Order: sequence, then C-alpha cells, then structure tokens
Amino acid sequence: MSPEAFAPARILGIESSCDETAASVVENGRTILSNLVASQVDLHAQFGGVFPEVASRQHIRAIYPILDEALRKAHIDLAEVDALAVTRGPGLPGSLVIGINAAKGLALGSGLPLIGVNHLEGHLYSAWVEAVQGAGQPEQPPRFPLVALIVSGGHTELVLMTGHLQYRRLGATLDDAAGEAFDKVARLVGLPYPGGPSVQKASANGDPRAFNFPRAWLEDAWNFSFSGVKTAVLREVRRLEERSREPGTLPVADLAASFQAAVVDVLVGKTIKAARAFGAGEILVAGGVSANKALRETLRARWDGPLHIPPLALCTDNAAMIAAAGYFRYLKGQRDRLQMDVLPNWPLTEV
Ligand code: KG4
Ligand code: ZN
Repeated sequence: MSPEAFAPARILGIESSCDETAASVVENGRTILSNLVASQVDLHAQFGGVFPEVASRQHIRAIYPILDEALRKAHIDLAEVDALAVTRGPGLPGSLVIGINAAKGLALGSGLPLIGVNHLEGHLYSAWVEAVQGAGQPEQPPRFPLVALIVSGGHTELVLMTGHLQYRRLGATLDDAAGEAFDKVARLVGLPYPGGPSVQKASANGDPRAFNFPRAWLEDAWNFSFSGVKTAVLREVRRLEERSREPGTLPVADLAASFQAAVVDVLVGKTIKAARAFGAGEILVAGGVSANKALRETLRARWDGPLHIPPLALCTDNAAMIAAAGYFRYLKGQRDRLQMDVLPNWPLTEV
C-alpha cells in the first residue's frame, strides 16, 4: 500500500486493553477528529499497579459515555463512520472483553464492519497519526524499511517493518518490559506510581553518572534484559540504607537518573544498531516509555535519519492509534466476524 492508496474513510477506534478506556475517530488513518481517554491511573495508584478486577469494572462504567463523546466531539454520528476498530489483544482479558463487546454491539446495531486490532500494532501506527502542532513529529509519514522499538509497560520489542502491516520481530525483552522496570525501580526508591513519569521527574535533579548501573548489551542478539539493572538498583538501595538508617536520606534523584541512563543507553544503542544492520533508513519508537524525555533526546542526538516518535498524548494507550491501524487493515480488506474473541497473549508476529 502506498500513501497514494489513502482512501477516505473514518474509523471509530476503541481501546480497553489495560487501564485506559479510550475512543477516537480518525480520518484516513492520519487525521484525528476526536481522541478521548478515560484514565484510571488515580484509581490504581493506591495499589501501586493495575488491579485487573477494578480496571474491568471501571471500563464498564466508562465505555458507552466515552463512545458517545468521541462521536460528539468529531461532530458526526455513527452513520458517518466507515468501520469500527477495536483492540483484540494483547492485554488483560477482563479489560479487553469490555471494549470488544461494545464494538460488537455497535457493529450488530449499525451493520458497520468490525476490525480486530493488535494493541502493539496500534502503538506502531500512532506514528502515522498526524502530529498536533508543535509536537515535532516529521510531516512525512514513516517510510519502509524501518526499525521500530515498542516500549511499554508490558512489552519491549524490536521490529523490522518492511511494509504496511508487515512485521519481522528482531528481538524482545527476556524478562521485564522497560516500562515495568521503570515502575518497579520507582517503587524501590519510594517514587509514586506510575513509575515512568516519576523516575523521569526525579532524574531532572540527578546525576546520571552517580551510579554505574549495568547495561545488558546481549551481544549477538536483538533481545533486551532489564532484570539485572533493576536488581543492581535494589542492591544499591539496600547498601545505602544500611549505611544511613535515617529515613529520607536516599539519593533518589541520582538513583533515578543513573537507572534511566542505563535503560536509555541500551534501548537507543540497540535500536540504532539494528537499523544499520538491516538497512532501515528510519526509526520509529512507540509505547508508553517513548514519552520519556531522555529517550527522545538521546535518540535525536545519536540518530541522524528520520525519527518518528508520537506526540506525548499518543505514546501511552489511546484509541487514535487503534483507529489508525484499523484504517490500514480496512484498506487491506480485513473484516472480522461478530464471533471474534479476545486474544490476551496475541503476538505481533501472528496478526
Ligand atoms: O503503552 P502504555 O500506556 O501501556 C502498556 O501498553 O503497557 O505504557 C505504560 C508504561 C508504564 O510502565 C509507564 O511507567 C511508562 O509506560 N511510562 C514512562 C513514561 N511515561 C509512561 N516510562 C518512562 N518515562 C516516561 N515519561
Ligand atoms: Zn500500550
């Protein structure tokens, strides 16, 4: 599919794979007409992570109002939509099922085509969604071949994209996802959930060279590992706490900055190396951790080719990315049956 093949179509996207209930209308896979996210982050903060049953109940409350709002903000009604795209997986089964059932209900009532979308594919397609002004995204949509890094709370994957909807998985994390490591380290040093943004904030006042945390380069492989750096932070925290038993003396900013530097170093180093090794001219980074300032700045400094990182609002879970991916699936002719079920462990390579 070339960019010339862009056919006018409006897709209503629905996302409920984890703890955000989201709905969005996107035109031609690129222009946002509306993009709404009902975040549950405050609700889960008390548990220090996502509590699946609470997430599911909250999705039930939020899904229909947010669908109505997405259409209202787009100034259209359902009859002016061309297809429904909904996240089918991967994600929490009890969360996914709320979005997928809402989509099925709408499809049944309206006769609109139903398209199941892989959540990771959605993250990739957030790079096709037109940047809001000032977000610094290149005006040109990404071009193939490109190397994509998906970094979120549940996934860290390095992918070669040779065309629309064509993926070769080069590597993935062997243990923790990058976002998960941020969340766990935040908890270790006493920073609030979600860990990524709090580690980033604390790092601003810290020295990234204060502690030399390990980088798992895993030479000869495109995989990642973050359990070593996480354990190294834990050991350092214990050592410091033994030395000074007074509360509040932990050098949180230095620990956060040094941890962040170690993670960013590996993510950036391996992504650029893969792009060169596979002759990819462009790099795409997506998923919650792509909101990280140090990651964005380091990539910009070390990679001189076109770099696609979504604007902040499209880094974390949203439905515009699902609508964008759904558009390319719609063009390809994908139409799913009403019997379509959720796929909580759906790999990107099996879409
Ligand atoms: O993509 P996402 O919203 O949900 C998943 O699909 O997992 O990603 C959430 C993850 C969390 O682990 C969160 O801590 C991390 O993204 N995150 C960040 C930042 N903002 C969110 N990590 C590092 N720096 C950030 N600024
Ligand atoms: Zn996600």
